[in-house]
Amino acid sequence: MVGAGDAPLPDNPALIPWNAMVINLAENQDLLPMPIGPLVIQAATPTCGLSLIIPTYNEAANVEPLIAQLTQVLQGQSYEIILVDDDSPDRTWEQALLLKNDYPQLHVMRRQGERGLSTAVIRGWQVSQGEVLAVIDGDLQHPPEQVAELYKAIAQGADLAVASRHVAGGGISDWGIARRMLSRGAQILGLLVLPNVVGRVSDPMSGYFMVRRSAITQVELDPKGYKILLEVIGRGNVGPIAEVGYIFQERQLGESKVTTQQWLDYLHHLAKLRSRGRITALKQRFPIERFLRFGLVGLSGVFVDMLLFYLLSDPSMLGWGLTRSKMLASEIAIVNNFCWNDRWTFQDLAKSQSKKRQILRRFLKFNTICLMGMILNVLLLNLLYNYFGINRYLGNFVAIALVTAWNFWINLKLSWRVTDVQE
Ligand code: GDD
Ligand code: MN
Repeated sequence: MVGAGDAPLPDNPALIPWNAMVINLAENQDLLPMPIGPLVIQAATPTCGLSLIIPTYNEAANVEPLIAQLTQVLQGQSYEIILVDDDSPDRTWEQALLLKNDYPQLHVMRRQGERGLSTAVIRGWQVSQGEVLAVIDGDLQHPPEQVAELYKAIAQGADLAVASRHVAGGGISDWGIARRMLSRGAQILGLLVLPNVVGRVSDPMSGYFMVRRSAITQVELDPKGYKILLEVIGRGNVGPIAEVGYIFQERQLGESKVTTQQWLDYLHHLAKLRSRGRITALKQRFPIERFLRFGLVGLSGVFVDMLLFYLLSDPSMLGWGLTRSKMLASEIAIVNNFCWNDRWTFQDLAKSQSKKRQILRRFLKFNTICLMGMILNVLLLNLLYNYFGINRYLGNFVAIALVTAWNFWINLKLSWRVTDVQE
C-alpha cells in the first residue's frame, strides 16, 4: 500500500492514488504525543473516570468492531479509550484514526521506535486522564462486556479488578493442551519464584484488568514482554483485589504475537521482580503452624498407605499385585489427606468455599498435585539412591520431606487459595 509518508504526493489531486488520499487524510488527524523516558505514571487530577488502553499490533481488522462494542458497554460512563499501536505494518493506527469522528472518546498513539505490549500499555496510561486505568486486548479475545463488571468491582472498593479465566464464569475457548500446559506451567513457576505477587490472583497471566491510578503512581515500572499485570502487582501499592470470570475467546482475525521470546521475557521479568528488595521484603512469613498440620496429615496418609498396601498386597492377606495395591493404597491415602486438610489444615480458607462444586474442584486440584508429587518422589528417590548412593530409606525420607513442602505450597496457592470474588 503506498503510504503518504513514503513518496511525495503529486500536486495534481487527480494523479494521487486513492489510498494515498486516505492515508493523507488520516495523517492530518491528531495522534497523541508519544511519551518518552521512564515508565512512571503521574498522579493526575482525573478528568474522566476510566482510561481504557488497547495495545495493538496488526489489528486493523479488529479495531472497528472492538471500539463499537466498548462504546456500547461504556454508554453513560465517563471514559476515554486510548489505542496504542506500535506502527503496525497493517497501519492499525490509521484505521483507528478514521474512527475518531464516530467515536470522540477514542484517542490514538502511533509508537515508533519503541515496541512491546507492556510498555505500550504504560505509555497509554502515562497520557491518560482517568481515575481508573485499564487494559484490554485489541483482538476481541477479551469480551468487552466484562469491562462493566471490572469497573463495578473497582467502584466497590477494589484497587485492582482482574478478568480471570480461572474463577467461576471463567475459561479458555480455543487453546490446545500445549498452550494450556504452558500457561499453567508459567503460573506454577511464578508461584515458586514470586509467591507474594503471582499468588495474589488466580490468573496472573491475564492481560485484561483495571487498576486504581493511585495504586501505581510514582513508581518506576520496568516490565518485560506481555505480563503487565505482574508489574502492577509487583511494583504497585495494590490493596484489595477482585476477580471477574471471563471466557478467553477464539481469535477471529489476525494472529497471536506470542513467541518463545515472550516466554523468555516472562522468565526475565520474574527474575527482575524477584530481585527487587521490596518484593523480597514482602516475603510472606512461612505459615509454619499450617505446615506442621499439613505434615501431620501427611504422616497419617503414610500410615493409611502402608496399612492398605499390606492388606492388599501381602500374600497372607489379599495378595494382589504390587502396582495395583500401591496405586489403590496411594489414592485412598490422598483422599484421607484431602479430608483432614480441608477440615483442619486449611479449614479457615475452605469455609468460604463450601459449595459442593468448589469442594470437588479443590479435591481434583489436590489429587493432581499429590499425584505429581508422587512422581517427583519416585524421581527424587531414584536420584538420591542410584546417583548419589544415599541409603534407600534415608533417600526416601528426604524425598518425602521435599515433596511434602512442594505439595503444601502449591496446594496452599492453587487448591485452597481464596479469591475475593464470592462464587
Ligand atoms: N502495541 C503493541 N505492541 N501491542 C501488542 C504487541 C506489541 O508489541 N504485541 C501484541 N500486542 C497486542 C495485540 O495486538 C493484541 O491486541 C494484544 O496485544 C494481545 O496480543 P496477542 O498476541 O493476541 O496475545 P494472546 O492472545 O496470545 O495472549 C493475550 O491474552 C492472554 C490472556 O489474557 C495476552 O494479553 C497475554 O498477555 C495474556 O496472558
Ligand atoms: Mn490475542
